[in-house]
Amino acid sequence: MTMISDKIEAIKAAVDEQIAKSEALQDVQNIRVKYLGKKGELTSIMKDLKNLSKEERPQVGQLVNTARGIIEDHLKARMEELKEKSLEMKIQSEKIDITLPGRKPVMGHEHPLHLTRRLMEQSFLNMGFSIVEGPDIESDYYNFQSLNLPEDHPARDMQDSMYVTQNILLRTHTSPLEARTLQAHKPNEPFKIIAPGKVYRCDYDATHSPVFHQMEGMIVDKGIRFSDLKGMLEDFLRDIFGPQTKVRFRASYFPFTEPSAEVDISCVMCGGKGCRVCKGTGWIEVLGSGMVNPKVLEMCGIDSQKYSGFAFGIGLERIAMKRYGITDMRLLYEGDARLLGQLR
Ligand code: DAH
Repeated sequence: MTMISDKIEAIKAAVDEQIAKSEALQDVQNIRVKYLGKKGELTSIMKDLKNLSKEERPQVGQLVNTARGIIEDHLKARMEELKEKSLEMKIQSEKIDITLPGRKPVMGHEHPLHLTRRLMEQSFLNMGFSIVEGPDIESDYYNFQSLNLPEDHPARDMQDSMYVTQNILLRTHTSPLEARTLQAHKPNEPFKIIAPGKVYRCDYDATHSPVFHQMEGMIVDKGIRFSDLKGMLEDFLRDIFGPQTKVRFRASYFPFTEPSAEVDISCVMCGGKGCRVCKGTGWIEVLGSGMVNPKVLEMCGIDSQKYSGFAFGIGLERIAMKRYGITDMRLLYEGDARLLGQLR
């Protein structure tokens, strides 16, 4: 009996000695296996209980269990100690240089097309216009017929269209909003509207995209004259391109306006001297316009004897390209952040 308790004490002492020497969690684990494991030294004493007398057995059993508890506690305490030590070492070895400059977050900004659209909208809003919208998928009636482009009209050819069914197509311009607004404003309230949005045509090259953007504009009231159209468009174009901009009106033809005019501005690159961008002419074309054809007013139920108006259609990409000095429209759609970051 005393021999056994001596042996247990010796085991406890040996464990403590080895614990004191342990340096890593694995060392502690090895000590546990060596003494408390299935074939461990303390465990084997338990296995030998059968060789003892009946009286001795419970006493020895109790001694072994107490010793096991104590050893477990010591092992656990050492584990905690080692864990803390390794954390401390990690903290000390990790050097953080708080004088390093921070990393700059990448900041996005509005797309140049969107910026241009907002700028144009703001210019018209300042002049008292309101914004209207209409469907991208449009009927042949609103896209063509209501605008004095009957079925066999040759001017339809210019807008090589994308049809959904025979009578439904992706709108080829924002002009359907002219007829839609005229009809919605019966009976004859005066109005000033712009209609920005996507339009679709079967074109694709450096200056044409199958999806692009236009902004339609229209005023209808009593006594609207061509001089109103000129004055307002000049104001708008100088607002967008600067007060030094010269504006020129050229006679043109659109079925929904009479008379019609195409509008040029002095070249934004050379100021009118002639360069590559304006192909040596000093002028660049920016929009189409005209007095609303009385036929269109009448078709929409408005008395053309009493009311008159003017309308215009502007290509957004064209305005953006001229503002930023871009010659390939596709750059606006490619999403190259290196380029877009420069166009603000
Ligand atoms: N819808 C024409 C086009 O896409 C542009 C246009 C010209 C609109 C003259 C107008 C206008 O309102 O008066 O080519």
